[in-house]
Amino acid sequence: MSTNIQPYDTISTPLGNCYIYTIHLSFLNRLGSFDCGEEEQNDFIKRFAVGHYLTGINHTFLLICNNDLAGFVSFSSYSYAFAEGFLGKIREAMKKEFNKKGLPHEFDISFKKLPVILLGQLGINKIYQGKGVGSFFVRSFIIPYSLGYCIRNSCIGILVYTKTAKEFYEKLGFQLIYEDKNGGANYFYSLYKNVLEVRYRTFLAK
Ligand SMILES: CC(C)(COP(=O)(O)OP(=O)(O)OC[C@H]1O[C@@H](n2cnc3c(N)ncnc32)[C@H](O)[C@@H]1OP(=O)(O)O)[C@@H](O)C(=O)NCCC(=O)NCCS
Repeated sequence: MSTNIQPYDTISTPLGNCYIYTIHLSFLNRLGSFDCGEEEQNDFIKRFAVGHYLTGINHTFLLICNNDLAGFVSFSSYSYAFAEGFLGKIREAMKKEFNKKGLPHEFDISFKKLPVILLGQLGINKIYQGKGVGSFFVRSFIIPYSLGYCIRNSCIGILVYTKTAKEFYEKLGFQLIYEDKNGGANYFYSLYKNVLEVRYRTFLAK
């Protein structure tokens, strides 16, 4: 594999130091043999990830450990219609946090859809599953990257839809917000408090 392109990030995992790269031509031959045991994610990385990245539909990052494609994640911008009960809770929590700052300005939101970063696809190579690699990937890259994205582009948290990995996300602190009749569920990882703290500091900066 050619590695003359620079990694976007480096993270420590149970496999040692791993590198995160934006999807790139150098990795094309590795995508075709990737197997995480789920057809949807395998199909995505083998057939669609390149086109979706190049046309701005999403951004796929590859996790390279020991020069091997250990996993990938794909993000999109998204606008999500939260259920009224949950939306009310978010609205009140935001209001409370904002009011704590004591600024001469009001807080309210009347719209139902709120901006999130969509964790569209996530896969860990079958041979590396069950070793904590997925958890490290989420904690050390996916959450920090999403926070940076939300601060720069405006979003309030991470949204993910899954049928196959509900407990995985629950263990990482994602909150169940919707279950459908087909066994799928939406999980949300809130980042608005972190966004507020960072933006508040910038807002006050002299
Ligand atoms: C889900 C996935 C990313 C997890 O990666 P991983 O490296 O195997 O996960 P970890 O080893 O970090 O597991 C962390 C915990 O989550 C649990 N877990 C992992 N995969 C799980 C799954 N599919 N369902 C339920 N729990 C799961 C583990 O048992 C472990 O629990 P523990 O901490 O109590 O031991 C990986 O199994 C995968 O690629 N699956 C196929 C694709 C998929 O389902 N993607 C998610 C939907 S987008």
